Amino acid sequence: MSANELRKKFLEFFKSRGHAIVLSSSLLPDDPSVLLTTAGMQQFKKYYTGEADPMRDFKYKNTASIQKCFRTSDIDEVGDERHNTFFEMLGNFSFGGYFKKEAISYGKDFFDSIGLEIEYVTVFAGDKNVPFDEESFNFWENLGIRDIRKCGREDNFWGPTGAEGPCGPTTEIYINGVEVWNIVFNEFYQLKDGTLEKLKTPGVDTGMGLERLAMVSQGKRNIFETDLFLPILDILPGTISERQRRIISDHLRASAFLLSDGVSPSNKEAGYILRRLLRRALVYEYINFLNPQIFESAIIEAIKIYGNFYPELKHRRDDIINAYWAEREKFSKTLSRGIKELEKNENITSEKAFSLYETFGLPYEIIKEFSGAKSSSLTRESFDKEFGKHQEKSRAGAAGKFGGHGLLLNTGELKAKDEEELKKVTRLHTATHLLQAALRKILGENVRQMGSDITVERTRFDFSFPRKLTIDEIKKVEDLINEAISRKLKVKMEEMDIEEAKRSGALYFFKEKYPAHVKVYSAGDFSKELCGGPHVKNTQDIGKFVIIKEEASASGVRRIRGKIIP
Ligand code: ALA
Repeated sequence: MSANELRKKFLEFFKSRGHAIVLSSSLLPDDPSVLLTTAGMQQFKKYYTGEADPMRDFKYKNTASIQKCFRTSDIDEVGDERHNTFFEMLGNFSFGGYFKKEAISYGKDFFDSIGLEIEYVTVFAGDKNVPFDEESFNFWENLGIRDIRKCGREDNFWGPTGAEGPCGPTTEIYINGVEVWNIVFNEFYQLKDGTLEKLKTPGVDTGMGLERLAMVSQGKRNIFETDLFLPILDILPGTISERQRRIISDHLRASAFLLSDGVSPSNKEAGYILRRLLRRALVYEYINFLNPQIFESAIIEAIKIYGNFYPELKHRRDDIINAYWAEREKFSKTLSRGIKELEKNENITSEKAFSLYETFGLPYEIIKEFSGAKSSSLTRESFDKEFGKHQEKSRAGAAGKFGGHGLLLNTGELKAKDEEELKKVTRLHTATHLLQAALRKILGENVRQMGSDITVERTRFDFSFPRKLTIDEIKKVEDLINEAISRKLKVKMEEMDIEEAKRSGALYFFKEKYPAHVKVYSAGDFSKELCGGPHVKNTQDIGKFVIIKEEASASGVRRIRGKIIP
């Protein structure tokens, strides 16, 4: 079956079995704990924990989706038979609607309906914390599956690593030796320290990679021979190595999707991932002397293959192509010198590799691939460490630069060079007050401001607190802020004597020297602080606030970065 048919069959199958069909969410997730969307369940997290009600939002307790996903952890694996960066995940989900029995028979029935035979399945063997999943074993056996293998935690237990969240044993379906479908039974909630609590309402979360499903359904040896990839690969000349053709087709396809979700190439976060994908492909274009039109054609082909199912690709077609050429233009200025410099060096340490990246824009993947034994000590970790050091330095540099002239506003905490920037930092400034108030409401009155810095892009707020925040706490703080925003609270300013201000319960920053007469800003009954402004007039002017990072700043001090999303 073609990939188009498989998508259609999957959605129809679950629609006719009481599931609401939900559109894919963006590759850029709301969930601040991940950089890019990596699984279908991400947009549904709050229904597992009971924070949101599926009946209210979907009219069903069960949903199914085809989710755009991206896994950076697989970047170095691309080029073999079955790894890719971007992929589509077919999934059915239940939040208290059904559990193991139904989920397992849906698995069997779906493959029957598309004429595929299950080769074997795996179930959780049990360990000291969680017992053997005997129920699943029995359900499979009753359905006539003979080959049921028991596996350990590594293979058959799903949940967040080092974070809080729903988790539980899994059962996996294999066809022709390929793991095709992962069915997770969310029975527990994992706390930060690893302890498991039983969830009140157990849930089902499943994920099946469309590329792998297409591979077994179309009887191909690898995902690149399926109709999802073949038309893109066919555009690339046969003179270059198979591995490079696979990498190019994967990376250009993924780039088209990232661009269609509004990511642009840059040196940080999702933009940095996109830049690496594009530049790696461009290096192959350069060393193989390819005609520059070829990659554009490959991108257009990807838009053609996927545009009907993901219309954002069609709508942003011109933006995608223009962004591709702009990045190519930027990189081509330094690419050939970078490659020469790489060849010249005898020993490529992480410092050297980073300087090649910084000066010539060569991505780590390329440096590693083309330097062979010369870079034997270079690892992704050591490179990332250099990268991190540099980012600290450039932040300090930018702050220094702004200290000087030409600013419309410079309070030390806030800086803006024109009206446009002033509007943005003002919104972030009021949001920062709400952030402090929300942190105190969720974490307690011991939370005090220890510092803050606001740029056009983000606010950075340091506060006293002894430990890392849990994902749940971050979410609660974020929700509380957005609730205050949507309550349309008036922001009011009063002038009074410093002592009176402190007595009134207004928060103040103890490191700051305040004059005898001060201003106090309050947002409804939610927050009250000594402050020089400026602030928005009403909290609704802020927009949606998201926490993008929570980390340690100093001993006993945590740091939160947040931004406003349009
Ligand atoms: N969330 C599960 C996975 O990603 C289904 O494999």
